[in-house]
Amino acid sequence: MPSRKILVTSALPYANGPIHIGHLVEYIQADIWARFQKMRGHECYYVCADDAHGTPIMLRAQQDGISPEELIERVGRDHRADFAEFAIQFDNYSTTRSPENRELANTIYTRLRDAGHITRRTIRQAYDPVKKMFLPDRFIRGECPRCGAADQYGDSCEVCGATYSPVDLKNPVSAISGAIPVENESEHYFFKLDSFEPMLRDWTHAGHLQPEVVNKLTEWFKAGLKEWDISRDEPYFGFEIPDAPGKYFYVWLDAPIGYLASFKQLCDRVGLSFDAFIGPGSKNEMVHFIGKDIIYFHALFWPAMLEGAGLRKPTAIFVHGFLTVNGQKMSKSRGTFVTARTYLEHLDPEYLRYYFASKLGSGIDDIDLNLEDFVHRVNADMVGKVVNIASRCAGFISKRFDGRLSDALAVPQLFESFVAAAEPIASAYESRDYNRATREVMTLADKANQYIDEQKPWALAKEKGKEDELQAICSMGLNLFRVLMGYLAPVLPVMAAEVEKFLNIERSTWGNIATPLTHHTIGKFEPLMTRVDASQVTAMIEASKSDLGNPKGGSSNDNSIPDVVRR
Ligand code: 2FM
Ligand code: ZN
Repeated sequence: MPSRKILVTSALPYANGPIHIGHLVEYIQADIWARFQKMRGHECYYVCADDAHGTPIMLRAQQDGISPEELIERVGRDHRADFAEFAIQFDNYSTTRSPENRELANTIYTRLRDAGHITRRTIRQAYDPVKKMFLPDRFIRGECPRCGAADQYGDSCEVCGATYSPVDLKNPVSAISGAIPVENESEHYFFKLDSFEPMLRDWTHAGHLQPEVVNKLTEWFKAGLKEWDISRDEPYFGFEIPDAPGKYFYVWLDAPIGYLASFKQLCDRVGLSFDAFIGPGSKNEMVHFIGKDIIYFHALFWPAMLEGAGLRKPTAIFVHGFLTVNGQKMSKSRGTFVTARTYLEHLDPEYLRYYFASKLGSGIDDIDLNLEDFVHRVNADMVGKVVNIASRCAGFISKRFDGRLSDALAVPQLFESFVAAAEPIASAYESRDYNRATREVMTLADKANQYIDEQKPWALAKEKGKEDELQAICSMGLNLFRVLMGYLAPVLPVMAAEVEKFLNIERSTWGNIATPLTHHTIGKFEPLMTRVDASQVTAMIEASKSDLGNPKGGSSNDNSIPDVVRR
């Protein structure tokens, strides 16, 4: 198979809150995919960055009495540490506040402007006369025009679910100063999304998107594509628009450009050609993993911006659903809003990687972390099935044969049947059907355990003159285990590396797992993964109840609401 060149991204987390288990669904999903591609021998680059701009970040820094730069620096450090501990292996991790991003945003904007895709007009908007700033909808609170509930956001009611415009709110106040907002005029810059409609209609039906996403888009096309407001007035934490002093790019303009800027940093660092990936007509792949709340930005604005700026469009946008915990939305009071950090204080990150993998399919349905099922699944599959194979065989090989495996496979057909699963499992990973991939591996693990059950090495070990048989059976078991760990390596990279060390082998690839380990001496077996105890999960939930910090977490942010969708 010819080697592919693939740029993989996942959505940029806002730099004003911690990474939580809801975010981790996506980073784990994309990391598994990128690792899998690398194991297949493809040239694959996985990049990301912090999403550092916008009103919430500016206000949060003010609240904390620090500069936005300090805030994003601090949060960025925490994000990187969390990702590293969850073995999310980015080839580059940047921030949208980078010189590369400023330059690319300017270039793309200038090209759009020069090609006639930008227009200007004066609009009226809510303004905080005390704070002297325009108010994003989320920063206006008041009574719901439909049900009368108090203290609702300017765009939607959390009590009755109504969506509306902030001017409809009764008794509105600024959430920042408490002042009554007034209406003020200002000139805004708009991206003429509507002129890309024919291209977008074609592109969205050309196999780049999941069928469920295409359906969603049909509704938006029906409603009509509108011009997109891409400017914000000062004070704003963002990049100033080159030809418009006092006007800034709306955070969502430079956020996806941040994918490219992070990749640009990587290219400059390792000597890759940025243009070969990003230039028009590039044959290389560019795929974006995102959640279903930001489809509009990625499947409409983003391809239109790229097209308008004369750059390549994405090869695919892979959308996933949200995470629920025990069937419900993550909740601070129930202790199910678990940050990455709190999780790490109680549990092994690879438990979660495995659990999410076992749940993830290629669709956009929500996935549920059922805490009881989590404990059961990890113990039954990882410890009970997979690790068990090694622990039943390795001791005999170490103690009785000095680590030496037998020189031939006891049951070559059984080994071959494991190797034959390489392609079906690969195709499951390729289509992000990790649920199917892990199920296939567990079926094989059952077969391996059944083999050991039947051969009873523990009984042979007590008999005289059965040494060769004992060695052959345990060597066979370890060979099967090795193939399975190769298949699981994208999901469990840390454990896979420990296994490689203990088996004294090179890094597994999709190619080298077909070669059995014969004429080979293994190292010392160390316990690989221990059982998870329900009390650890309980402790994590308790700790999450008392976690302080941003009550809504990193993703709750007005930045994620596209103005245009609501107009
Ligand atoms: O929704 C969010 O959390 C955004 N920070 C995602 C940005 S993704 C990309 F476009 F940059
Ligand atoms: Zn209401």
